Amino acid sequence: MAALETPQAFNPWDPAFVADPYPAYEELRARGRVHYYEPTHQWLVPHHADVSALLRDRRLGRTYQHRFTHEDFGRTAPPAEHEPFHVLNDHGMLDLEPPDHTRIRRLVSKAFTPRTVEQLKPYVDRLAGELVAGLVEAGGGDLLTDVAEPLPVAVIAEMLGIPESDRAPLRPWSADICGMYELNPSGETAAKAVRASVEFTEYLRELIEVRRKEPGDDLISGLIAAYDEGDRLTEQEMISTCVLLLNAGHEATVNSTVNGWWALFRHPEQLAALRADHSLIPTAVEELMRYDTPLQLFERWVLDDIEIDGTTIPRGAEIAMLFGSANHDPAVFAAPEELDLARKDNPHISFSAGIHYCIGAPLARIELASSMAALLTHAPTLTLSEEPTRKPNFVIRGLEALRVTL
Ligand code: HEM
Repeated sequence: MAALETPQAFNPWDPAFVADPYPAYEELRARGRVHYYEPTHQWLVPHHADVSALLRDRRLGRTYQHRFTHEDFGRTAPPAEHEPFHVLNDHGMLDLEPPDHTRIRRLVSKAFTPRTVEQLKPYVDRLAGELVAGLVEAGGGDLLTDVAEPLPVAVIAEMLGIPESDRAPLRPWSADICGMYELNPSGETAAKAVRASVEFTEYLRELIEVRRKEPGDDLISGLIAAYDEGDRLTEQEMISTCVLLLNAGHEATVNSTVNGWWALFRHPEQLAALRADHSLIPTAVEELMRYDTPLQLFERWVLDDIEIDGTTIPRGAEIAMLFGSANHDPAVFAAPEELDLARKDNPHISFSAGIHYCIGAPLARIELASSMAALLTHAPTLTLSEEPTRKPNFVIRGLEALRVTL
């Protein structure tokens, strides 16, 4: 069967598409279940049922390097000068498949169980309260830099045991590395990611040495103990895991917070309902993550041929699952284009599914609910003071700033 032509409206480099990709997704879903997209040589999958099934399908993988060489797989190795980024990235659990993925995820997951992170709630609430108090005292500011960003950065840095005085470069390192997760990254983006990878790696190597001598009550010390006890984690895996936790541990939470508040400001009747009834916070957090999906696309390699709706997708191909589209699929969500903070039946896919399901989901939910509660309680008249500008990125969806007043 011939591949369907991708509608013109789907263009991840077009600011108008990035501003509101949801109409183009609707067209994609209406036109078929799988579309070959020439500019990225990927197969786009827009329906919820397909995305959900593919995330659990073991014929696909985040990597192919556990089974094939680049040549076997019909690909070329990345350029040697990008090596520091790839070494760092390829040893983190997100880019590993079993058995390595299973081994590392098991070690880390103990720190992120719902019960363990629930114990962090008083700390997260206190921090959110302090940050919102600062915003209120100043009479407003930028919700992104004043609240959305410092909260998850501090929480994940605290969990890992990164001293407060060392935290300033974490955000720029993360931003530079995350540039590589956009489609067809430029040479300049790659150069920035390589530089950040070198610096971040060097920093963590030194910190691991310090913690080895003086262990603390933190995740890095825990990983060192696991390493020293049974060689279950190489030093590179330890460094890659820390970088992954630090980056994944704040990037999407920051964006979910500001995307969410911008959606609230555009739906004053929903915001008023939330202000009147804080018991809506848990469903509101889920609905805002569905309504404006913070991570729009995830990729998988096809390790063994699969078939979608009569189209064979061969080994060596790449699939791009459109999370934002899946989250607006009317086959699953009633009135998907409506923001309904009381939505009960909400199986959104924003935290993924299958073996790579977000390990930080319970923590992210606590952070999002905590900052929302603090803002609703202590800044009950919060309003938008300036129309925000979207970041040009498609995959990692965010705002440049969200200026507010009281
Ligand atoms: C709103 C916030 C967040 C969103 C939307 C989000 C989303 C995701 C998604 C979609 C994946 C899987 C990607 C795939 O299947 O290819 C993932 C994986 C992951 N996330 Fe999150 N995440 C969030 C917050 C966090 C936090 C707070 C942490 C803190 C530790 C975290 C750590 C991770 C890790 C380590 C993985 C890799 C899991 C694995 O490969 O087994 N995330 N996240």
